[in-house]
Amino acid sequence: MKLHPVGIIGTGKYVPERILTNQELEQMVETNDEWIVTRTGIKERRIAAAEQATSDLAFEASKIAIAAAGITAEDLDLIIVATITPDTFFPSTACLVQEKLGAKKAAAFDLSAACSGFIYGLATASNMIATGMYKYVLVVGAECLSRITDYTDRNTCILFGDGAGAAVLGKVPEGRGFKSFELGADGSGGELLCLSGGGSRLPSSTESIASKQHFIYMAGSEVFKFAVRIMGSAAEEALRKAGMEKSEIDLLIPHQANVRIIQSALNRLNLPEEKAMINLDKYGNVSAASIPIALAEAVEQNRVNEGDCLVLVGFGGGLTWGASVLVW
Ligand code: UT7
Repeated sequence: MKLHPVGIIGTGKYVPERILTNQELEQMVETNDEWIVTRTGIKERRIAAAEQATSDLAFEASKIAIAAAGITAEDLDLIIVATITPDTFFPSTACLVQEKLGAKKAAAFDLSAACSGFIYGLATASNMIATGMYKYVLVVGAECLSRITDYTDRNTCILFGDGAGAAVLGKVPEGRGFKSFELGADGSGGELLCLSGGGSRLPSSTESIASKQHFIYMAGSEVFKFAVRIMGSAAEEALRKAGMEKSEIDLLIPHQANVRIIQSALNRLNLPEEKAMINLDKYGNVSAASIPIALAEAVEQNRVNEGDCLVLVGFGGGLTWGASVLVW
């Protein structure tokens, strides 16, 4: 079967207005701006307003991506929302976004792969278009991590923020588009980064709430070691599958968890810092939304030109990881 080349034909991002600075966090937990900046690179993050939920952020980013693609919401065949902070268990956040957009003919589902979710979503969507099943698919990474963050836990509360990034996928000319995907998972590391309360294993109860099991738990240094190892190897594997060399990368769009993790990936790929899109100083770690926000911002800043070779790479809870080579 002949597969159509598939690429990203429109991007968009939305971040809430409220900025939470390191200085404000100094008033909340035993931490300081210098520690946060040197250990993570983060200076501030965005926090959703009380009336905003994940689907609201996703909707704002999606409208921009759809307009940039030159289509209307009614042209969409499918909406995939990658998130670990859905508005509700069900209906899915993707169904809520479908309704807000008026994307009447679109199917819709959520995808759970934590910070790797957007790349998992791109892989799913691109194959559906390549085989001719669908023409236009909207892939969104959206999170309200502030709703599952314990603002008395300095190990995690300094890291996370809220926001959404979106991409419309469609057919592109020969030679362009996605060249490869590398997806992976290691469920044995699931307990290193998780939210254990509120599911079928530990339903919500006064006890589960009192023991703070509705907040993110993270074994930071273990996740850090995994991230350093996997970011480089996943990117290398995606390049190998695409038949491309490290030296051909024009821009790396990494998951924005920690600037030291990004620097280690750059070293492994022999790339200077200018070849990475880094915006975690402004937004912190937005899980599934980090990569699409970084991509949309790179497009806004004209850092992406036709024919450029982009490598998208991320890792996260699960444990999961994903990388893709994309010719713009
Ligand atoms: O999207 C994927 C999710 N997560 C990640 O990618 C996070 C990966 N991990 C990391 O980015 C890093 O491990 C952290 C930024 C979370 C922590 O940095 P670290 O260099 O690994 O620090 P550490 O956990 O080894 O802690 C070093 C020290 C400890 O004090 P002691 O035991 O040496 O006295 C911590 O208690 O720093 C202390 N510490 C803090 N100090 C000030 C931990 N958090 C803070 C804080 N402010 N916020």
